[in-house]
Amino acid sequence: MAATDAHLWAADANEAIHLSLVRAAADKASFNSREHYEGFNPCFTYPLFGEDEKIYGYRDLRIDLKFASGSLAQYLSIQHSDKLPATSAVDDIEGTIAKSIPPGYYTDEAAFLKRVEEDAITFTPPGTRAHSYSRRTKPPIGKGKEKLVREVEDTIDFEVYHCTWNTPGFRELHRRMQLFILLYIEGGSYIKEEEDVWQFMVLYEKRKRRGDPSVSTYHFVGYSTLYPFYCFPEKVRLRLSQFVIVPPYQQEGHGSALYSALYRYVREAPDIAELTVEDPVEAFEDLRDRNDLKMLLTEPTFMREALGEGWESATKSSQKAKGHRFHPYANGNGRGDNGHTPM
Ligand code: ACO
Repeated sequence: MAATDAHLWAADANEAIHLSLVRAAADKASFNSREHYEGFNPCFTYPLFGEDEKIYGYRDLRIDLKFASGSLAQYLSIQHSDKLPATSAVDDIEGTIAKSIPPGYYTDEAAFLKRVEEDAITFTPPGTRAHSYSRRTKPPIGKGKEKLVREVEDTIDFEVYHCTWNTPGFRELHRRMQLFILLYIEGGSYIKEEEDVWQFMVLYEKRKRRGDPSVSTYHFVGYSTLYPFYCFPEKVRLRLSQFVIVPPYQQEGHGSALYSALYRYVREAPDIAELTVEDPVEAFEDLRDRNDLKMLLTEPTFMREALGEGWESATKSSQKAKGHRFHPYANGNGRGDNGHTPM
């Protein structure tokens, strides 16, 4: 290879890898407004392909890593128009990805799609349902599709499930979902399965199948891992370690909903004293601050402390005042800085 040709054989790994959350054919028909579940890219690939996030030795490289939208069964396909003769300079793509996903992934697309169809009927989320909420359907893409969407559902349900390693079927599911931690959280790494105290909150979209509303299908949206530490004298301090919402669902309030569900769970658990967050990125700090503030605004004890007695009438008149929004942290920095969310 001439030195000047080198760039032709180096692919940007973040662009070459295409991720998809694949739904059964019957479910796709009812999701015409949401076509962006397939073909989104990772944010980080250095945990797989090294600091420069490049894959060497291929031309016109395209890697498809598809997940069944509920069970997250995986399919891997690697396509290229040309490949250099195998040397140490040519990346072993499948070997590299295989180190980060569990064995048993599909390489035959027809077999994978058959599995997607089966899973759409059989997959139900492992664990205990901890929370649910509904959202109105998104505006459809393209003219004339509004009626079709309206015929399907006006609202979409979302459900959060609490799991531990002992939840039947969860360990295998987690092995398939944890790749999202590497691909979307900077500095993210896999948790140790030998540490048996981990807890998990997993968020799914729940849909009724068009033409057969008796069938509910579940589609992975995101999850969080939680680690309990001992807290003197007889409680635990729960540390939120990892938190990810997959790109097709970002910026729609689902991160806030999952965080709120988690917060509510923690408050209701008599043995948990505190919720802390491990190394939050800026976007997560924003999310947490916004949601903590919303929750504080509904807490009479906090409001009385911040505004004194008579806070109820003060907030009512402040809400009425045109152009003025009440902000209890108006004189402060807007957040507690110890990384802790007090219970
Ligand atoms: N329509 C449009 N926008 C909305 C809606 C809506 N219905 N609801 C909320 N939003 C806006 C929010 O106002 C917010 O806006 P802002 O960014 O201007 O403040 C924005 O969407 C994000 O809020 P959410 O939608 O609630 O959050 P999201 O679901 O996008 O999740 C998260 C945020 C977790 C950071 C997600 O982007 C993600 O997973 N990123 C990659 C992984 C990551 O960084 N994880 C956190 C690591 S830190 C840790 O693990 C401890």
